[in-house]
Amino acid sequence: MSHYSIKNLEEYYQVYRKSVREPENFWEEIAEEHFLWRKKWDKVLTWDFREPEIKWFEGAKLNITENCLDRHLLNRGDKTAIIFEPNDPNEKAQHITYKQLHERVCKMANVLKDQGIKKGDRICVYLPMIPELAITLLACARVGAIHNVVFAGFSSKALSTRIIDSDCKMVIAADGSFRGNKSLDLKGIVDEALTECDNVETVLMVKRTNADIPMIENRDVWLQPLLDKASTVFDAEIMDAEDPLFILYTSGSTGNPKGMVHTIAGYMVYTAYTFKNAFQYKENDIFWCTADIGWITGHSYIVYGPLANGATTVMFEGVPHYPDFGRFWKIIEKHKVTQFYTAPTAIRALAKQNLSFAEDVDLSSIKVLGSVGEPINEEAWHWYNDIIGKGKSPIIDTWWQTETGGIMISPLPYVTPTKPTYATLPFLGIQPAIMDDTEELKGNQVNGRLCIKFPWPGMARTIWNNHPRYKETYFSTYDNMYFTGDGALRDEVGYYRITGRVDDVVIVSGHNLGTGPLEDAINEHPAVSESAIVGFPHDIKGSALYGFVTLKETGESRVHENLRKEINQLISERIGPIAKLDKIQFSDALPKTRSGKIMRRILRKIAENDMTNLGDTSTLLNPEVVQDIIENRL
Ligand code: PRX
Repeated sequence: MSHYSIKNLEEYYQVYRKSVREPENFWEEIAEEHFLWRKKWDKVLTWDFREPEIKWFEGAKLNITENCLDRHLLNRGDKTAIIFEPNDPNEKAQHITYKQLHERVCKMANVLKDQGIKKGDRICVYLPMIPELAITLLACARVGAIHNVVFAGFSSKALSTRIIDSDCKMVIAADGSFRGNKSLDLKGIVDEALTECDNVETVLMVKRTNADIPMIENRDVWLQPLLDKASTVFDAEIMDAEDPLFILYTSGSTGNPKGMVHTIAGYMVYTAYTFKNAFQYKENDIFWCTADIGWITGHSYIVYGPLANGATTVMFEGVPHYPDFGRFWKIIEKHKVTQFYTAPTAIRALAKQNLSFAEDVDLSSIKVLGSVGEPINEEAWHWYNDIIGKGKSPIIDTWWQTETGGIMISPLPYVTPTKPTYATLPFLGIQPAIMDDTEELKGNQVNGRLCIKFPWPGMARTIWNNHPRYKETYFSTYDNMYFTGDGALRDEVGYYRITGRVDDVVIVSGHNLGTGPLEDAINEHPAVSESAIVGFPHDIKGSALYGFVTLKETGESRVHENLRKEINQLISERIGPIAKLDKIQFSDALPKTRSGKIMRRILRKIAENDMTNLGDTSTLLNPEVVQDIIENRL
C-alpha cells in the first residue's frame, strides 16, 4: 500500500502506528516511490539528539529542482505551476506553466553561474512577492547555492545582520515593492545595509516599481538584460542529500536571530508529503497560501511542497485590505482556489469587517481551510468555519515552526474530525511528548511543554555557524528530546492544543519576536536605563507588546510622547516596524529578584491585567515598585 495519500481515520491510525514503529522503513518507502534521485541513499537515518546530529538519506544524490520542475515537464508541462496575483487588482494575473517556470529557473541559474556563484555560496534574497522570488529560490537550488531569504519588510539593520552572519556574497533585490496603496523603497534599505557588509560582491536588481534608484558601479547589476541573454538549458548541480538548501532566520529570546539550516533531501520529502496530506491536494486543485515567501510557511507551502507535487500554487503580492477588505475573498473567487491557508491574525482582522465582503463573492471552490502561525482563538475559528467555509470545509489548524520545516500537528481534512482551537493529531512519523519540568507526562488529559522524541526528515539540522547554540536552544532543556518552546495540552482523546510560547518569544500578528533583542534595541536609547518587554492579548494581532521602561533621569519631565516615538523608531530601525510596542510605560524601577533579575512573570501579569495572580511578591528586592507599576498601568 502506498502511504503517500491517507484517505480515512482508520488508515491514518494504521499508518501512524507503522510510522512510529518503523520510522526508517516508513520514510524510505515514501522517498523511494515519490521522488527523483540521481543516486539512492546508503542509510536512511543517523541520529543522536545529544550531539545533536541528524542525517536523513545519507549518500543520496539529487537536485530538488529536478523534483519540483523537470520531472513534471512530460505530463504537466502546460499545467500552471504559479499563479501570480499582483498587488493592483487591475494588473493582469500571470499564469506560469511548469515549462515556463523551468525555463525561467534555468535562465536565472545561468545568470548566477555567470556571476561566479558556485555550489555552497550563500545568496541573500530581499524581494517582494513577485514571481522572481520563487524563481530565485529555485535557481539557487539548481546551482547548489544556499538561499537566505530576508522578508522584504525587515529593516536595513536586520538585513545586514543576516547577510553578515551567513556571509553572503550576493544579494538579489528589487527596486521597490507595492503593498496596498504604498510602495516601499527596497533598494534604499539594501544600500544602507550594505554599508556594513564587505562580503557582498554583487547586487542583482529586479525591476518592479520602476522607481528611480541609484546603481552602484561594479556592484549593482540589472537582472533582466542578463536573463534576456541567458540560455534556457541548465544542467542541475548534483547535490548530496544533506547539503544545505537554505538558511532562514528566526528570532530567539536573546541575541542575534538564529540561522536555521535546512538540508535538501529530508526537507523535500517532508514538505512534499505534508503538503499532499495536510491539504489533501488533488491534481487539479488550486492552492493558495497567503504567507510571504520570506517566512518558512512560504518556503514550504508556496514553493517547495506544492511544486514537488506538481501543484498549482498562488502567489499574492499585496495585502488583505487593498483595495478593500474583500481582496482575499475576491482572489479565491477569481482563481477558484480550493485550499486556502492563512494566519489567525488575518482572519481576526477580516472578521471585523462588513460581512458583505465575504458574502458577496462565490467561495464555493473552497474545500480546505488552513490556519498557521499562532493559536487560533475560538471566535476566529467559528467565523472562518461558518462564513468562509460555510460549515462544509474543514479547518486544519496546523502547528509547526521554522525549525520543523513542515507541518507537525494538524488534522488531515476529511480524515480527522476537527475541534475548535485544537491542532489535533500528530502528522505521520511525528512523535510528540508533553513534559513537566523533567519528566514526560504520559497518557491523556495532561498539560505541559511540547517536545518531539524522534527525528523527522524536515527538521533543521543546525544553526548556521553556531552548532552549540542549536544544541543549547533545542536539545538541552530535556535529555534526548527536541524542545519546541511551546506549551501544549493533550485532551481526553489524545488531541493536542497548543497553548502558546513558554519562553520569551511573543507572537505578534504571526511574527515571532524575541523580547531580548527588542530590549537591547530600546536600551540603546541614551535616555533609557532598563527595559522589559512582555506580550499581552490583542484582538487582532493575537498578542501585542508592552514595554516597561526605566530612564536614567527619573522624574516626570523626562517622560514625554516623543520618547515613546523615539523608542519605537529605534525598534523599527533595528528590527522592523512589525516589532513596534503598543504600550510603553515608564516607571522608576522594575521588579527584581534578590539576584537582580527582572521578574518578567509579574510584568506579564500586569500587562495582561491579571492582578489576582501576581504570586508572592514579598521575596522581591523591591516589592514596593509593583504597586506603583499597577497604579500607572496603561
Ligand atoms: O508558538 C508556535 C506558533 O508559532 C511558532 C513558530 O513560529 P515560526 O517559526 O515563525 O513559524 C510559523 C509558521 C510555521 C510556534 O513555536 N505556532 C505556529 N503554528 C501554530 C502556532 N501556535 C499555535 N497554533 C498553531 N497552529
